[in-house]
Amino acid sequence: MTVPPTTRRRLIIDCDPGHDDFAAIALAVTSGAFDIEAITAVCGNAPLDRTSANALAIADALGTAIPVYAGAVAPLLHRYDFPADFHGVTGLDSAGATLPPPRRALAPGHAAEEIVRRVNAAPGEITLAVLGPMTNLALAIALDPELPGKVRELVFMGGGLIGGNVTPRAEFNLWADPEAAAIVLASSIKTTMFGLDVTNRAFIDGDDLARIRAAVPGANPVADIIQFYTDRSGDVAAGRAPGPALHDTCPLAFLVDPALFTIEQLAVTVETAPGPHYGATDADRRAWAPQGVARIGVALDLDRPAVARHVTDALVEAARRIAKR
Ligand code: BDR
Ligand code: CA
Repeated sequence: MTVPPTTRRRLIIDCDPGHDDFAAIALAVTSGAFDIEAITAVCGNAPLDRTSANALAIADALGTAIPVYAGAVAPLLHRYDFPADFHGVTGLDSAGATLPPPRRALAPGHAAEEIVRRVNAAPGEITLAVLGPMTNLALAIALDPELPGKVRELVFMGGGLIGGNVTPRAEFNLWADPEAAAIVLASSIKTTMFGLDVTNRAFIDGDDLARIRAAVPGANPVADIIQFYTDRSGDVAAGRAPGPALHDTCPLAFLVDPALFTIEQLAVTVETAPGPHYGATDADRRAWAPQGVARIGVALDLDRPAVARHVTDALVEAARRIAKR
């Protein structure tokens, strides 16, 4: 897609790559719809040294010069063992070829400070896409409590009204740092949430993966990385989706084409009290918002085939770019 510079949206991607974070970054980069000012990394799917190294490898392999900053090493309060079930111990394990080592280093500075600096340099212009635990953004708001009024818009993957994936009630990103999510949800940022309600259905299937593989015969790290995640998460027999749910692609697909999603404005809260609901999101569907709880957009439905097409096109293009590198 060729989008004139004047209409490209200025974007910071905060993430914890992560196979679906990888697909989301590929979608953002190849869509041509964004000026991606920075990628900031947070601990989540893996420790920070891994997620930041993965973010850098992705940005570099895709042929971009986007600066990549490391952020929070730990959530605000919650302590948990980094999960290796879906993303492997590196956070971006592959069934074969891996991304080439980056030819540049992480940018100096902390992700949270960098978010504050960049948003303050362009008030009202920068959109944030948060694809991991919200620790970096919560820290940025603590550094600059006026920040929410200066962010153009926030889209995030997390939560869900249909139940959880890491516990019966909670989705991983919000469970990993519910206190950070509570700070962000209580802020005045114009926000749209992409929870499991839609992201569980944001899968690509075997034909899509075959297209990605066929785009680059021989070594194809993109196909092999997605294959690893497919083997771990896309299992019909286990009652899961027929392919890997690429959760984090939803907020980016929405920014590219909002018509792909059905959004309702709801008053959303996140549970921070210890117990079985820790990290779970809840939405008040009554016509009036309870005092002190702002309404945010909540994605409740998606055009699944169209989202899968966008994502597959992006991964095909990513595979070609990496092969040419
Ligand atoms: C979220 O958790 C991570 O495993 C994924 O990268 C995604 O951001 C899905 O619950
Ligand atoms: Ca993620």
